[in-house]
Amino acid sequence: MIVAGKVEAYLESLRPRAEGVRAKMEAYGRKRDFPFIGPLVGPVLSLLSRSIGARRVFECGSGFGYSALFFAEAVGEGGEVVLTDRSEENLAKAREFLEEAGLAGRCRFLAGDALALLATEPGLFDAILVDIDKAAYPASLAVTVPRLRPGGLLLTDNLLWSGHVADGRFRDAATLAIREYNRLLHAHPDLESVILPLRDGLGVSRRR
Ligand SMILES: C[S@@+](CC[C@H](N)C(=O)[O-])C[C@H]1O[C@@H](n2cnc3c(N)ncnc32)[C@H](O)[C@@H]1O
Repeated sequence: MIVAGKVEAYLESLRPRAEGVRAKMEAYGRKRDFPFIGPLVGPVLSLLSRSIGARRVFECGSGFGYSALFFAEAVGEGGEVVLTDRSEENLAKAREFLEEAGLAGRCRFLAGDALALLATEPGLFDAILVDIDKAAYPASLAVTVPRLRPGGLLLTDNLLWSGHVADGRFRDAATLAIREYNRLLHAHPDLESVILPLRDGLGVSRRR
């Protein structure tokens, strides 16, 4: 999306070929044109999670479970990934894929509004993924940041929004919300943030 197609294809070619459930999920997502995080960003989620020793992860917007697969691998045995989606159908598909991957035992599947669900979950998380409706992004910070442990990571997808955030001609609600979120993320006193220009832009913020 942001990276030139040729460069993206090159980056993908460097990765080992997806196999098993991961390959099935990629085929499922592509066939349905579902906006999932994809084979370049998925490994970033697991690498970052492993690098902070993450054991407890909360996902806001899990879709059919592709991003959760990377977190579930990273948290290891005894770790926990909470998946949320307001679509019961997406969650059922996520459960099916994660069961097939042998990882459902470390996952919980919650249907409903992700931020409302996060507010009712006890304790702190090592990492939180935000990948929900873009209009909800700015207000989400008040819910997500306090739920991260110090040193924990807030990972946010789509922060470059096909480049629209950098083009003043785009003034639609989603673009305006992401621009505002990016501003808040970088000004937040409790966060250090960068945006990785991979796929559609992944925000990586560390709670101080
Ligand atoms: C971009 S997809 C998630 C993809 C997933 N993170 C992945 O990369 O595999 C966004 C999902 O969030 C769900 N969603 C959007 N807004 C939501 C909200 N406020 N609460 C819960 N789910 C939401 C949608 O139903 C959709 O399945």
